[in-house]
Amino acid sequence: MDSFLSEAYLNMLATDLDGTLVGDDRACDELLEYLNMNYHRFGLTYITGRHFNSVMQLIAETALPRPDILVTDVGTVIHVLDRNSEKRSDAYSIDETWQKLMQKDWQPENIDEIGKQIAGLTRQQLPDNCRVSYYADSSLTANKFEDALVSANIKHTFVFSSGRDIDILPADGGKGQALRYIVRHYCQPQARILAAGDSGNDREMILSGFPAVIVGNARPELASIEESQLIYKATGKYAAGILEGWHHFYG
Ligand code: GLC
Ligand code: MG
Repeated sequence: MDSFLSEAYLNMLATDLDGTLVGDDRACDELLEYLNMNYHRFGLTYITGRHFNSVMQLIAETALPRPDILVTDVGTVIHVLDRNSEKRSDAYSIDETWQKLMQKDWQPENIDEIGKQIAGLTRQQLPDNCRVSYYADSSLTANKFEDALVSANIKHTFVFSSGRDIDILPADGGKGQALRYIVRHYCQPQARILAAGDSGNDREMILSGFPAVIVGNARPELASIEESQLIYKATGKYAAGILEGWHHFYG
């Protein structure tokens, strides 16, 4: 990584998409324009629950910029943009080092077997097994599932969001772990970092030890997180909340 370090980012926004960066187009444009105009070596990172093609579809539909780093599948895959690539369609490459770290002890088939035995779960149809995700009919069902995985001794990270979505990730995965890895490998040591989110799958990222903003429209599931020196609760919604958070930490 040494040769890369001179290129490393000095400023980074690591933001969730749905309900955070995406939701108010005008505020989104204002935020990105402000950051691009005022900060050089600025790295735009999306950290989302969506899978890669789903993000690409969203980018096409909403005219979002393509990020420098794209973390998909709730923090289980890191895609890095190759700025020199002339082929726009396959300009992202997967960070294989992270991928290998992540897949250690990963047992998607065993998780699926247990999931099948629990009423009230519907498996999400996804293109691969880098995570195993479900829709749950209640938080009780989610709790039952989590207990069953623990009893079966299956190492995992359990993420419950929006009162409905369950993501089972490899134990070392998740938005928080992915962000720590990215900061370590792609940012300068003194870099300004801001993480931003609105729902349950952002919890680990918000608590990951970097300055973080919870946007004003966040779901009640984040209400239990207390404000602190590193955590700011914005009143502004969506991207306006992110900009408010950036000003809070960096003036
Ligand atoms: C997004 C993804 C879904 C995931 C959810 C929560 O909605 O599309 O697969 O379960 O985020 O992380
Ligand atoms: Mg969200």
